Amino acid sequence: MSDFEWDPETYRSLMAEEIPDYPRLQTEVAAAAATGAPTSILDLGIGSGLTAQRVLEALPEAKLLGVDASSEMLAAAEATLDPDRTQLQLGRLEEPLPQGPFDLVMSMLAVHHLDGPGKAGLFARIAGVLDPGGRFVLGDLVVPADPSDVVTPIDWIDDTPSSLDDQLSWLAEAGLTTRVHWQHRDLAVIVAQKEQ
Ligand SMILES: C[S@@+](CC[C@H](N)C(=O)[O-])C[C@H]1O[C@@H](n2cnc3c(N)ncnc32)[C@H](O)[C@@H]1O
Repeated sequence: MSDFEWDPETYRSLMAEEIPDYPRLQTEVAAAAATGAPTSILDLGIGSGLTAQRVLEALPEAKLLGVDASSEMLAAAEATLDPDRTQLQLGRLEEPLPQGPFDLVMSMLAVHHLDGPGKAGLFARIAGVLDPGGRFVLGDLVVPADPSDVVTPIDWIDDTPSSLDDQLSWLAEAGLTTRVHWQHRDLAVIVAQKEQ
């Protein structure tokens, strides 16, 4: 379980230093999320709400529930996001998810903090809270096939990314149909859809 203390004051500079393609990853997550005009969204590991804000801007009819383990990051999200369209909940990805159902579950740069079995278990629980036809959009760090594609420093304590192929397999085992929306070096955006 991660003990890293997230600080919304330093979050943007940390991302700029460690994940130089953070803005592109966010753009790709927002584009994948906006497809199909979902109205009921669950954001897992919402942090300070920077990606949720992009998604809500693209989806003016949508309402979003954000979950995060850091009360400091949630306080920053509360200050950023429209309270009429957003609910925030302190909680961990390892715990039971809000029941939903949701037509979009999204997560950016949070799932890589879980180990392999933790990711597989989370993907199964996500499938359980998606509406038929609903989608899970995952934008995250992956272990690239070529080690020279590693950009972001990984400590293998708080950060435990998995390969793209492993994550696609676990999503398929959860009953979701997957496609890779975007990949560059050690970043990827996966879209995983539940059957109608
Ligand atoms: C890199 S930030 C990403 C924040 C946001 N999704 C974004 O796009 O900027 C990772 C967030 O995941 C949260 N997090 C990490 N592990 C978690 C866990 N096991 N359960 C819930 N939240 C977690 C952290 O508190 C942090 O706010």
